[in-house]
Amino acid sequence: EEVLDPGATAVAHPNIALIKYWGKRDERLMIPYVDSLSMTLDVFPTTTTVRLRSTARADSVTLDGSPARGEARHRVVAFLDLVRQIAGRTEPAVVDTRNRVPTGAGLASSASGFAALALAGAAAYGLDLDPTALSRLARRGSVSAARSVFGGFAICHAGPGTGVAADLGSYAEPVPVADFDPALVIALVDAGPKAVSSRAAMRRTVETSPLYRSWATSSMADLSGMRAALRRGDLDAVGEIAERNALGMHATMLAARPAVRYLSPATVAVLDSVLRLRADGVPAYATMDAGPNVKVLCHRADAARVAGTVRDAAPGCAVVTARRGPGALLRTGAE
Ligand code: PMV
Repeated sequence: EEVLDPGATAVAHPNIALIKYWGKRDERLMIPYVDSLSMTLDVFPTTTTVRLRSTARADSVTLDGSPARGEARHRVVAFLDLVRQIAGRTEPAVVDTRNRVPTGAGLASSASGFAALALAGAAAYGLDLDPTALSRLARRGSVSAARSVFGGFAICHAGPGTGVAADLGSYAEPVPVADFDPALVIALVDAGPKAVSSRAAMRRTVETSPLYRSWATSSMADLSGMRAALRRGDLDAVGEIAERNALGMHATMLAARPAVRYLSPATVAVLDSVLRLRADGVPAYATMDAGPNVKVLCHRADAARVAGTVRDAAPGCAVVTARRGPGALLRTGAE
């Protein structure tokens, strides 16, 4: 009987972008058009184990206990091919991934997933990567995964140029923010898989939306405003900029041909409740990714009230309150 090598296990958390990434200028190398800035969360971790099995004919990929199929399997195998190419190795791998986040629902499971896979895969194939190189590698799986390598707040640079130069210049790094530890109330209005993948949606947006370029330009100004607001620990400024940046991103999609609309009636109901909270003097600001779920940024002291208001606005939806969380970590054998 063959004994599997112990392999490597990594844990990573999703992140929510306060300044969004939307649109790739190189789809093969996964180079974004715009810089983005996010907060890594302390909820919904992904745990991934990669073991090498030299006697296998192909990679085996399991997602939450079931064999991965189609596009999900293809993306993991393509990523392993890249890790093997960098490491100069050829052994197939056995990959086991467990998500505590609904896959494909705009909750950045690809971010935690590829950050964990990059770390576990690099370790299993004997690659010794510094955090920048690890972030670059994770980016090849999913651009937002480059940010989940780091805890707290992280900026992902679009970087200059094309080809190898672009690959080298596009990675995330931490944004040290000492005294800013807000709550993020997540309203899971619909945990099902999305109708249009973010990859297809952003391609269509870049190719057909007349609003894309102006959003990308305004996003650069949003980014410098966001960095200053984070340095001041100014929740109102952080929230205002994050909310307009996200609504602007969705506007680019609504103007694509045909339109991509991720926002559902329940999304809009939650957005209305956020406006009511602000009218009542509670600082609360919304952001949405490639799905109908709403994430509401607020002070930790207001989180329970915000969660209650949001729950009333979208009856039946699950509400989870998150905070800033840790970067991707290898699990040692003793744990
Ligand atoms: O991580 P991807 O490649 O599926 O892109 C998702 C991008 C957004 O979540 C919509 C925004 C972001 O910056 O995370």
